[in-house]
Amino acid sequence: MTHDPQLARLGLFDARVPRYTSYPTAPHFGSAVGPGDFAHWIGAIPEGSEISLYLHVPFCRRLCWFCACRTQGTTSDEPVYAYVDTLLAELAILREHLPRGVTLSRLHWGGGTPTLLSADRMEALAEAVFDVAPMAPGGEFSVEIDPNEIDDARLDALARAGMNRASIGVQDFDPMIQKMIGREQSYALTRDVAERIRARGVASLNADILYGLPSQSGPRISDSVQKLLTLSPDRVALYGYAHVPWMSRRQQMIPSDAMPTPEERLSLFETARKLFLWDGYQEVGIDHFAKPEDGMARAQRAGKLRRNFQGYTDDPAPVLIGLGASSISRFPQGFAQNASATAAHTKAIREGRFSTHRGHAFAGEDTLRARIIEALMCDFAVSRAELLRDFDVTPARLDAMFQKAVGEFGDMVRVTAEAFVIPDRAKPLTRMIARAFDAYDTAQARHSSAV
Ligand SMILES: C[S@@+](CC[C@H](N)C(=O)[O-])C[C@H]1O[C@@H](n2cnc3c(N)ncnc32)[C@H](O)[C@@H]1O
Ligand code: SF4
Repeated sequence: MTHDPQLARLGLFDARVPRYTSYPTAPHFGSAVGPGDFAHWIGAIPEGSEISLYLHVPFCRRLCWFCACRTQGTTSDEPVYAYVDTLLAELAILREHLPRGVTLSRLHWGGGTPTLLSADRMEALAEAVFDVAPMAPGGEFSVEIDPNEIDDARLDALARAGMNRASIGVQDFDPMIQKMIGREQSYALTRDVAERIRARGVASLNADILYGLPSQSGPRISDSVQKLLTLSPDRVALYGYAHVPWMSRRQQMIPSDAMPTPEERLSLFETARKLFLWDGYQEVGIDHFAKPEDGMARAQRAGKLRRNFQGYTDDPAPVLIGLGASSISRFPQGFAQNASATAAHTKAIREGRFSTHRGHAFAGEDTLRARIIEALMCDFAVSRAELLRDFDVTPARLDAMFQKAVGEFGDMVRVTAEAFVIPDRAKPLTRMIARAFDAYDTAQARHSSAV
């Protein structure tokens, strides 16, 4: 397969381009935002409104070599139980600050591996959450499930607590690749877990798989995708494997010389993409596929797709509160991030205060740029009229911003009287084009950042 050499020249294969799950991105948060701002922003949530809640569990029983998530391996239950106690205490503090009548449009448990909690801890945690804010009618409760770290008792506990969406980590079904990336998980096990999740009435199942893995080839990724399709997931996240061994030391176990070339990566993505499209999935954003009747696919068609720290979402809530070490919250006023180290987070919570240690209060053009970047990542286009309607910006200023991107990307972007558009052939460049609107991502910052 041949690829447009322009794509490579324009930075397609640069692993350091942000994934823009926020703007500004987390490396640009500063220490000016603290627990006082976080409490104040929570207090400003309108009474009776719907918000999103994220609970972070940064522990795993196994540490997969490929994984770039910040998570702690543990075989003993002690640190996990202590952490659950901290989450319960954090929920109690949140309860003191949260205005009356707030309900949850989304509740997500992620990590790490939230399913390493025991069934009784899961139930206690869910009960404490709903005591602070019950689910809104039609709300969605989703959990990241490692198929190796789940059993019937825990699935029953999650189902009783109201889990109605689940996400399973698959990565790749090829046994040789699984060995190379330190993540062994048989097809039979994954299929069995998917069936057991569905048997509990969970309406929607997501699966994560990766392209760009060592020794991955066209036939191998085709085989993996076809196996995945037999599980009929409602959504699929097809992430590009980020090989950053200088940041994630476990990845040093993976032979760098077995990594596909940038051109092969693109070809692997396209092979997988075609298989999903042939099977009737709808492409959503830069790296998701969903059944046409799925909420995320419907949101994309309606122009209502959003992007947050968990990736793409159809959640319309303007506030997302993240609990647990390193979790990030988003408010109309800005972002607030909890202390990253579990010990520092625990200490603050045990002292009865939030652990917020970094963040960003929106100022100047932040929200305008955030909207442009989110629209490009979700819709590959941004409407001039909508920006002029929603922001205090002149047509001349908007044009100057659009022309800067044209200067960098030439005919890989299109500016019309109505919109700034990323045409189909330039879609693989979306993150790079979004970066042209990032005022914090200076050449100097690029030099010192990683993924
Ligand atoms: C928190 S983890 C998954 C949850 C659960 N612990 C599991 O393993 O099934 C979320 C996802 O991040 C993705 N991920 C982790 N490391 C990555 C990397 N280096 N590059 C791209 N995606 C990665 C994987 O697809 C993974 O399923
Ligand atoms: S992939 Fe999942 S189980 Fe493996 S280290 Fe990452 S978070 Fe833990």
